[in-house]
Amino acid sequence: MTADEIFRALAADGTDDPYPLYAELHRLGEVLPVTAPELPYAAAVFGYRAVDRILRDTSFEVHDALRMEPMTPGWRDHAVLVTLMNSMMFSNGDRHGRMRGLFRKVFTPRRVQEMEPDVLRITAELLDGVAELGADGGEVDYMAEFAYLLPARVVGRLLGLPDEDISWFRTQVDLINDWLDFRRKGSDVLAAADQAATRITDYYLELIAKRRADPQRDLISDLTRAIGDGEHEVTDLELVGNLLVLFNASFSTTIHLFGNALPLLLARPEIRSTPELMPAYVEEVLRYDTPAHVFIRVAGRDTELLGVPLKEGELVAVLTGAANRDPRRFAEPDRFDPARADNQPISFGAGVHYCLGAALARAEAQLALPLVLERFPQLALGSEPVRTDQLILRGYKSLPITVTDRALVTAGGTADAAG
Ligand code: HEM
Repeated sequence: MTADEIFRALAADGTDDPYPLYAELHRLGEVLPVTAPELPYAAAVFGYRAVDRILRDTSFEVHDALRMEPMTPGWRDHAVLVTLMNSMMFSNGDRHGRMRGLFRKVFTPRRVQEMEPDVLRITAELLDGVAELGADGGEVDYMAEFAYLLPARVVGRLLGLPDEDISWFRTQVDLINDWLDFRRKGSDVLAAADQAATRITDYYLELIAKRRADPQRDLISDLTRAIGDGEHEVTDLELVGNLLVLFNASFSTTIHLFGNALPLLLARPEIRSTPELMPAYVEEVLRYDTPAHVFIRVAGRDTELLGVPLKEGELVAVLTGAANRDPRRFAEPDRFDPARADNQPISFGAGVHYCLGAALARAEAQLALPLVLERFPQLALGSEPVRTDQLILRGYKSLPITVTDRALVTAGGTADAAG
């Protein structure tokens, strides 16, 4: 296959199994120009070293408000674009540093540690629900009942959002994610995303005002306090943009860490008797089947990347999912091996935009996955799972499982999956 054929295939249906296509790419190099006219990128970067380099090189920028003007005239009429462009994820240089500095001040490693009892409590509550739903030996959708709810409730708890508002948030965020998927840029998708962004903005502005007047023990209160102390100049609309991105970035990725992990763990029953190895397993899941495969960078000036020339303003697709399978960096990259030495997947990115929530995502998986296995010794995969159709966020839409042995239930044996 030529490079363009591979990129076309990845854009078309690479979500089912992009890994053979990544292997083809690795045979061709680390960075390649993209010439297919229908693809918006001038180049794609997929070698581990090249991905690490581009993410650390600040002359390659994220899409920001300045770039929007020439590319999407009239973008300020779209609430979703205005809100996203107000966030650190879509800012460069000093503006990025200013917003990220505020969040780093309050979203500290200690804060993540303080969340651990919440993670354990929410996990136990959700597993009770799964046990109840699956007590008759029928199938339960692990994605809907656990993999999504856990990170969504944890980030809700972190921010101080009431549990009953979480499903409303998910609906809004899904509308925005549909638009972020590069294959779905239709005007109806944009209009729906605009409405969702407006509703979320109204919600947050009200909550920010409430917490400013009456602080609680949550991140939004701490953020408003830090701004009030005068050390961090961040406007309320920037706060909203960042809260939207933080909530979105947190559950829409971690859901797939939980989803992608489960079949891999079930195929390796030895992990049940060695739960202390879970951190190494989680790291290997992050490498082997990472939740987020594609990021975009814009060349900030005429430059080159490992020999491929790029003009100012040209887009580069950064394929972290491919970098994690680079045979130059990982021996036998297509083998799941939690014992591999020096395992440092690039799943949380690198450089100034390195994932703000990496420690929380790791903590959630390391704490909750052993509890899932411990709670359900009979846990098994059920009927055919359904995959997401996005490469940007790759995982399962639904992953049916059973948690009780149906034969035992019908024989009148141990029907209590809660054990
Ligand atoms: C397994 C789960 C996760 C994965 C794979 C993941 C992945 C990433 C990656 C690759 C980036 C860098 C994007 C870029 O360079 O353009 C990023 C940024 C970010 N992530 Fe995560 N993430 C995860 C979980 C979380 C969680 C739990 C949170 C929040 C609690 C979070 C919040 C953020 C934020 C705010 C940014 C933007 C940082 C910036 O632009 O400075 N993420 N994430």
